[in-house]
Amino acid sequence: MHIILLGGPGAGKGTQGDFICKEYGIPKISTGDMLRNAVSVGSELGKKADLIMKSGELVSDDLILALVKDRLDQSDCKGGFLFDGFPRTIPQAEGLENLNVSIDIVIELVVEDDEIVKRMSGRRVHMGSGRTYHVIYNPPSVSDKDDLTGEPLVQRADDMEETVRKRLDVYSRQTKPLIEWFKDYEQRNSATKFVEVRGIGSVESIRDRIIRELKK
Ligand code: AP5
Repeated sequence: MHIILLGGPGAGKGTQGDFICKEYGIPKISTGDMLRNAVSVGSELGKKADLIMKSGELVSDDLILALVKDRLDQSDCKGGFLFDGFPRTIPQAEGLENLNVSIDIVIELVVEDDEIVKRMSGRRVHMGSGRTYHVIYNPPSVSDKDDLTGEPLVQRADDMEETVRKRLDVYSRQTKPLIEWFKDYEQRNSATKFVEVRGIGSVESIRDRIIRELKK
């Protein structure tokens, strides 16, 4: 299964992506997680990405496409994968199409901006794995500790309200046009399906909506 999860910052892509990947036994390719790892190890890519991410802007298409191409060459992607947060611009989608990677389904998670701002202030993340929690809506078993490793959870630097609003603005200008682009892609590629899934409600109810779409 080759899946793309589209949706604004905080729409629940990471949370739902983890469920889907477990269900289908496929890796999650999160460009956000890959960039945060690069920042934490201080690589050249990390140095270039750090300030851009903190400001809520997007990292350049060239860097992202090179990162994704390398990732797709790894053996665990041969049996399928899920993209979380990629593509995010039309040039990235065109770059993916040029790699001749077939896509089975593009799922847009739809959530209103005010709900997103509420979610982000309570988000906590396990940096090593990218596992995501929310202090109220999706809490870890032990406060501020990752369920699997017991390691501490942190708040992301770009989850301050002002930066979240900036990211919503960037999403609206640079990523939302992808919705029409993928509807057109669906017309050109009969094996690809584009679906919208409402991303409001309990984490489990949204998971069930997505799984229903995947099984159709
Ligand atoms: P990235 O890490 O991709 O961030 P994002 O797309 O803004 O998405 P988030 O990770 O913030 O949210 P999410 O949709 O995964 O939601 P989550 O499941 O965590 O990118 C970060 C930055 O990296 C970008 O700004 C950019 O600079 C750069 N970047 C990354 N990819 C790039 C690319 N392709 N091109 C260029 N630049 C790129 O959920 C959010 C919170 O809500 C959590 O606390 C969760 O527990 C909670 N929650 C989830 N579901 C529910 C629910 N149903 N009800 C209540 N709470 C919920």
